[in-house]
Amino acid sequence: MIEKTKIIIMDRDETSRAILKDYINEIENTETAAEFLEYARAAEYAENNECIAVIDISDNEQKAIETIAEINKNNHNVKIIAISNKTTTETIIKTMRAGAKEFITKPVTKTQFINTIKELSASSKALAGDNSCKIISTFSNKGGIGKTSVAVNLAVEIAEMTKEKTALIDLNLQLGDVSTFLDLTPSFDVCYVVNNLANIDKTNITNALTRYKNTSLYVIADPINIENSKEITSEQIKALILELKKTFSYIIIDVGTNIDAKTITALDMSDLILLCAIVNLPAVRNIQRCMNLFKKLNYPQEKIKLVLNRYMENEEIKTTDIEEVVNQKVFWKIPNNYLTMMSAINKGVPVNLINPEANISVNFRDFASKVTDYLITQNIKKNSDSGFVL
Ligand SMILES: Nc1ncnc2c1ncn2[C@@H]1O[C@H](COP(=O)(O)OP(=O)(O)OP(=O)(O)O)[C@@H](O)[C@H]1O
Ligand SMILES: [Mg+2]
Repeated sequence: MIEKTKIIIMDRDETSRAILKDYINEIENTETAAEFLEYARAAEYAENNECIAVIDISDNEQKAIETIAEINKNNHNVKIIAISNKTTTETIIKTMRAGAKEFITKPVTKTQFINTIKELSASSKALAGDNSCKIISTFSNKGGIGKTSVAVNLAVEIAEMTKEKTALIDLNLQLGDVSTFLDLTPSFDVCYVVNNLANIDKTNITNALTRYKNTSLYVIADPINIENSKEITSEQIKALILELKKTFSYIIIDVGTNIDAKTITALDMSDLILLCAIVNLPAVRNIQRCMNLFKKLNYPQEKIKLVLNRYMENEEIKTTDIEEVVNQKVFWKIPNNYLTMMSAINKGVPVNLINPEANISVNFRDFASKVTDYLITQNIKKNSDSGFVL
């Protein structure tokens, strides 16, 4: 017998609950497992059962969002659909960031609701293909720009802020240094993981990665042996990323500088490419070259974001000049702070641990919010364009 997908409803409005129950009745292999009038009771159920939780956030938005965050923290198997009669972009972002998978505006229409439930129950059954994992790459075709510094500090902050499982992959197969930046002694490197992917217990793939301290960040380290790394194929990289997508909410890839098949595979699979540059003439030319490459690869504009690293106020070349030349807005600027950055690298810690109040540490925290907010907004846009939700 096929096990039915359990759906719970937390909505104080009786009529609204009755309508939702009617919709659920029409979906094959689903059932309304419970109804709640209190957030705490709904949370108690959802934290202990695999289900889809439909939570009305209109009544007490703050409390509802806290409840969603709590459920999400304590039970990753629950898929939360937030419903509300008040829809502002800010509310949607806060709700999704707390862990809701979808947001539907009230009155909830039948087609929207049924499609959403079908989509979510399919993704919980066939874990693969779940689009909730977001892949972020740091890229530059020039060395020494700060790609690794950006990837490492951003990954630490995203994991800290979201508490979601975050993977950091070092794809600099010749000269990787992510493990040095975080002072990790990995048991396995990227070569081992890709070569043994078939034998690794997929339900516990985190065991093949190196956990960064007691956080939700897991690292796939740079190859210990450069010779072995030459054997890695782009197909293996693809298989690895697809496998990680099933477990992780965010994957951050420090992509190599060489434009080869492996780099392109990683870039193709990314939801967001952070094109890193510094402010000088050769770097601006390089941005142009990369933009041309992305154009050839048919990447949509919204997938590429320009990040200026080591930025100093009063730069000779103005940000607006760069934007005009490369026809791309600057997404983020990271201040030049050599002392804090060098000290962090030398000690093998993120900048936040050197000095949380330093401009660069504050900047990375804000950057993590900006990136995750952007990805959530893109997701909402994609879903609404396809008529899925909203
Ligand atoms: N925002 C910053 N302020 C000051 N110095 C920085 C900043 N970001 C990076 N650096 C310095 O720039 C140097 C290169 O950084 P990093 O290794 O991250 O660059 P990369 O692009 O990954 O280089 P590679 O091409 O060798 O992989 C490091 O010495 C680092 O301390
Ligand atoms: Mg690097």
